[in-house]
This record gives sequence, structure tokens and C-alpha cells, in this order.
Amino acid sequence: TSGATEMVDKYLYHMRLSDETLLDISNRFRKEMEKGLGKDTNPTASVKMLPTFVCSTPDGTEKGDFLALDLGGTNFRVLYVKVSDNGKQKVEMQNQIYAIPENLMRGSGSQLFDHIAECLANFLEKLEIKDKKLPLGFTFSFPCQQNKLDESILLNWTKGFKASGVEGRDVVGLLRKAIRKRGDFDIDVVAVVNDTVGTMMTCGYDDHNCEVGLIIGTGTNACYMEEMRHIDLVEGDEGRMCINMEWGAFGDDCVLDDVRTEFDREIDMGSLNPGKQLFEKMISGMYMGELVRLIMVKMAKENLLFGGKITPSLLTTGHFETTFVSAIEKDKDGLEKANEVLSKLGLDPSHEDCLATQRICQIVSERAANLCAATLAGVLRQIKENKAVDRLRTTVGVDGSVYKKHPQKIYISKLVGTQMVRRLVPDCDVRFLRSEDGSGKGAAMVTAVAYRLASQQAE
Ligand code: GLC
Repeated sequence: TSGATEMVDKYLYHMRLSDETLLDISNRFRKEMEKGLGKDTNPTASVKMLPTFVCSTPDGTEKGDFLALDLGGTNFRVLYVKVSDNGKQKVEMQNQIYAIPENLMRGSGSQLFDHIAECLANFLEKLEIKDKKLPLGFTFSFPCQQNKLDESILLNWTKGFKASGVEGRDVVGLLRKAIRKRGDFDIDVVAVVNDTVGTMMTCGYDDHNCEVGLIIGTGTNACYMEEMRHIDLVEGDEGRMCINMEWGAFGDDCVLDDVRTEFDREIDMGSLNPGKQLFEKMISGMYMGELVRLIMVKMAKENLLFGGKITPSLLTTGHFETTFVSAIEKDKDGLEKANEVLSKLGLDPSHEDCLATQRICQIVSERAANLCAATLAGVLRQIKENKAVDRLRTTVGVDGSVYKKHPQKIYISKLVGTQMVRRLVPDCDVRFLRSEDGSGKGAAMVTAVAYRLASQQAE
């Protein structure tokens, strides 16, 4: 290793978590899960463990034409999904990305929903299906309290959203109202799902062992199939229900204060939701680049980087994108990329500066991967105990922009699976299935399953 690498390793000592610490974090997370599931402890739990009313995964007989909306990830999209079942089930989709300007993300809720309805109208027009009343699944990737599949009350916004007048309201109602107000088309909102649930359902379609959905994207979160008898918040003890954990809020009750660093605190203080989603802020795409930038600023101020030079660009929030982190940490052309990115920030980096920057990126993203592995290990152990088996064989569906863009090295071998998760849960064979378009397709799948169940009930 070079001097630069060693220097960074020392400087970021607190960001490099030992196996012991990770196991400890995993155990703490197990406790938080339990707290979220219990009726008396849920109101004060930070990990909310939200019931989703999704009780069955696809069985392969679903069919029909569906619409889906996907809000809360990198892009807002409208999708048209055709599920056909002639012998072998097949899914075809068409989709369109629409921009949501920042002023709408943080303006008034009614404007936001009017915009969503307008995009939907535009899409239906383009496909010439405006006169059909199609069933719609809404992937709404925020913490919601659901009382049934088609009612979803937003608890609080996360990530980059902060539209007024939506928290505490049923988003299905707001969507229906915006559509009714236009009066130029009609749809049937059947289900609201979290993106984790959509991901699990999409993967569950190809692999019936899939019982966990994981997102590492703009935000991070996971869902899994829990035994009804453990879910105090919902009546009934039979069967299983998918739980949207909202693990991004792990640590909001201070249980991670000893692992959080000054950089994590700085990110939090400058965010739209201070004190909230503290685990997410250590991991996800919305914050990772910013973490690296804050580290670089501090190191430059201490004369450890760039010969002490600091530029206005380096000091600007958001100027170091999360996509840079993954590009720079690559062995092959990472150093060249570091040089390019740093030069664009107005710095004139030496070779040592590039090496140091690469090391910072590696440490930040490896910590993120390991933290995810720790919580995921907690979930796997819970499932294993539920099933009372000596060895658990299970599949985790994964999606999200960070997971997809990062070098396979980090996110396949370190996080998901092989190394860290296996070290943390030895008696478990996990298969990681990368979901293709989980959140959008998943909403359609949930809608399709709801349709199948409704028609079976009618028979
Ligand atoms: C945030 C949201 C959560 C979502 C995750 C990934 O944590 O609160 O609902 O699943 O981001 O998009």
C-alpha cells in the first residue's frame, strides 16, 4: 500500500467497522425489529416494521393489463404492464420517465399529485388507451401506514421529498382526487406498494423462494415475509405477511450514535429531515457522494489533501456525486477518473491525492455495504428462527441505483452475500437475485395477484 492509502486508513479509522462491531450492529437491529413488531413497543420504535397487506407472492397464473406508477426512486415513471398466461407466463412492459422538478417535490402536495395525474394522462394518450379503465398499482417508496392494500397513509417523507399536506394523508385518496379533478380518464387504484415489496414480488415471480426485498438506491430499505403470529398490529395468526421494515430509520433513537462519525452528523444536520433516517444517511445514494466530499474538505483543511487547496466547487453541496464514488473505486480506471473529477472541482490533484481519494471512496462504500450486510443478516436470522430450520435456503431480491452502478466486487461479494452476510449468518445459503425493474413491475405484480385473489374469491 502507498503512503496515501495508509494515511486515509488511519484518518478514517472509525469508518472501518470490524466484524465484531458489525455483528453487534446486527444484534441491535434484531432488537429494533422486535420492538417494531410488538403492539406496545411499536409506537416508540424507530424501525417501524409496517404491515403491507401483501400476503402471497405470484403463483404464475396471474394475467391481465395493468398500469403502474413508480414514485420515490431516481426517476418517476409510468408503466404499462401486460401479463399473459398462455402456457408460460410472460411480462411485457412499456414505460416512460417523467421529470419531477424540485419545486414540486418540495412544494404543495396537491400540485405534486396534479403533476402525477398529468403525466399519467400524457402516457395514456401516447399509448391510446385513455378510454380503458385499467387497474393500477402505485409504487410509493416512502414509509406508509397501510390498513388495506389500497389505502396508504404517508407517515413522513424521506429522501428528497417534502411536499406539504401529504403527511398523515392517504396517498390513494390524493391520487384519485387529482384524477377526478381532471375528468379526462379513469383508473382503478388497486394497490400501493413500497419499492422493496415490488422488488421481492418481481423476483418472487422467477424464484418462489424469494422472501426478502432489498433496495440500495437513493434510499435504503428492505422487506421480508414475517409470520402473522409475530405481527401484533394485524389481527390473525395464520400465514405470513410482508413487512416493510423501513430500516433507513434504524438509529433514529440513538442506538447507532457510537458508530456514527462527525461526517454522518454533518450530513444529517444539513439534510431535509434532521434526526431522521440516520442509517439511510450512512449508506444510500442520496448521501454517499456527499459523505466523500465532506471527508475531502476536512482533510484538505488539515493539509492532508490537495496541498491544502480548497476550491468553491469542492465546498458546494452535491458537487461530488455518488456515481463518482463507484467510478473512482474501480481498480482499473478509477485513478484516472479520480483525476478527472478532482480537476473538474478546480483542484490540481497529485497522484497521491488521487490514490487517497480512491481510498476514501472505497472506505465509504465498503462501510455502506457492510452496514447493509449487518441488517440483512438480522433479517435472515429472524426468518431462519421462524422456520426453525438448521440451515436456511432463501433468496433476496435486490434493486436500486447504488447496487446496480457499483462495481460488482463490492456489492456482490462484500455486501450481498458471499463474504459479510455469510460471516454474520453462517447457517444460511442466500441467493441474491438482481431484480430487473423491480419497483415498477412489482407494483403491477401485486395488482395482478390482488386481481387473481379477488376473482378466486368471487368464484
Ligand atoms: C426510503 C423510504 C423507503 C424506501 C427506500 C428505498 O428509505 O423511506 O420507503 O423503500 O427509501 O427507496
